Amino acid sequence: MEPIPILKARRIVLGVTGGIAAYKVADLASKLTQGGAQVDVVMTAAATRFVTPLTFQALTGRPVWTDLWTPTSETALPHVVLGEAAELVVIAPATADFIAKMAHGLADDLLSTLCLSTRAPILIAPAMDAGMWAHPATQENIGRLRARGVEVAGPVYGRMASGLEGWGRMVEPLELLGHIRRILGRKGPLAGKRVVVTAGPTYEPIDPVRFVGNRSSGKQGFALAQAALDRGAEVVLIAGPVTLETPIGARRIDVGTAAEMAEAVWRECEEADVLLMAAAVADYRPAHAQPLKIKKGTGLTLELVSTADILAGVAAHRARHGKPQVVVGFAAETGDLLESAQAKLQAKGLDLIAANDVTEPGAGFAVETNRITLIDARGRVEPLPLMSKAAVAEVILDRVVELLKEKEA
Ligand code: CTP
Repeated sequence: MEPIPILKARRIVLGVTGGIAAYKVADLASKLTQGGAQVDVVMTAAATRFVTPLTFQALTGRPVWTDLWTPTSETALPHVVLGEAAELVVIAPATADFIAKMAHGLADDLLSTLCLSTRAPILIAPAMDAGMWAHPATQENIGRLRARGVEVAGPVYGRMASGLEGWGRMVEPLELLGHIRRILGRKGPLAGKRVVVTAGPTYEPIDPVRFVGNRSSGKQGFALAQAALDRGAEVVLIAGPVTLETPIGARRIDVGTAAEMAEAVWRECEEADVLLMAAAVADYRPAHAQPLKIKKGTGLTLELVSTADILAGVAAHRARHGKPQVVVGFAAETGDLLESAQAKLQAKGLDLIAANDVTEPGAGFAVETNRITLIDARGRVEPLPLMSKAAVAEVILDRVVELLKEKEA
């Protein structure tokens, strides 16, 4: 896993309480650490029955705390030292018992004491038997915690340790990571800004079972949405037909055709500050989608007509209303990269265009990496090396933050 800028050097206390989902939290500790965070794990006595402190120590490279009375190098006790340094406290899994303790302000071990002493935001991931979760006592406790500003992720429906199915499973580590990014990022440079991102291909129907599409995977667009969330933006992700997980915190709108995408983009852009148009929108669609499946043997000739240029519509809206302030386009090319991209930047009235030659190895569709060249409206050309799509998204969002500042100055 490569470093995640939003996690870099951030101090997170990871509180582990006594549930079987503790083994999954080892993976979360590992992901956070690899992402660049400094993770201090605090375990309750019950948690150590499921996973040993050594496991977390090995994964985080830091001492694991289990006892309120452990001396620290500083004069204060660990609950104060850790609680003060933390930027975020995550309790995962959070048992019914621990939730009850928090709700009532009990402080009889290190983790519960730390929860009282810290001023950092707290995120909990409940995990328990479905009956315990549904019990009015637990629901009341959760309600109290929510009212106090504690964030609650999950639980989700699924199979539990008992073998039964129900509401009580802890959310998966990757989803928790998404919540952590959302909370750490919310005061970022795009806080209060609405960013619309498009991703993936569009499918233009020929008949009920066939379509004209393209090879776009949507990965670059989804990475852009995540990078915008990491900077505190309110993100609307307009996705073509792809099966990728929605980044936590994004509002996703699924569309099928170019016409549906156009409608969604134009509507969402009325109040947007930024548009990142990463989708590979079909330029042509079958003139007449057949209502019934076309049988073989009858011969098939497709008549294609142009779709509307979505960015052209956005440019027209922007000319009248000044929104979105920043518009970024993408150009997938198969030759004379710079010239074509520069022409598109001007024709589509963009602030920035990210151009890639999709015939190059490691760039373009369905791979994890991309090699792009950024060109802005002032003619600045910045070729980037081969990078992950997540890293490309980071560079683009940093440029968007700069462009917004320039426009607002
Ligand atoms: N785009 C759009 N509406 C379309 C087609 C494309 O808004 N109907 C957007 C894309 O999302 C991308 C940019 O325009 O941000 C450039 O897309 P691209 O397909 O490279 O350019 P085209 O204008 O379609 O030009 P060509 O296919 O001739 O290269």
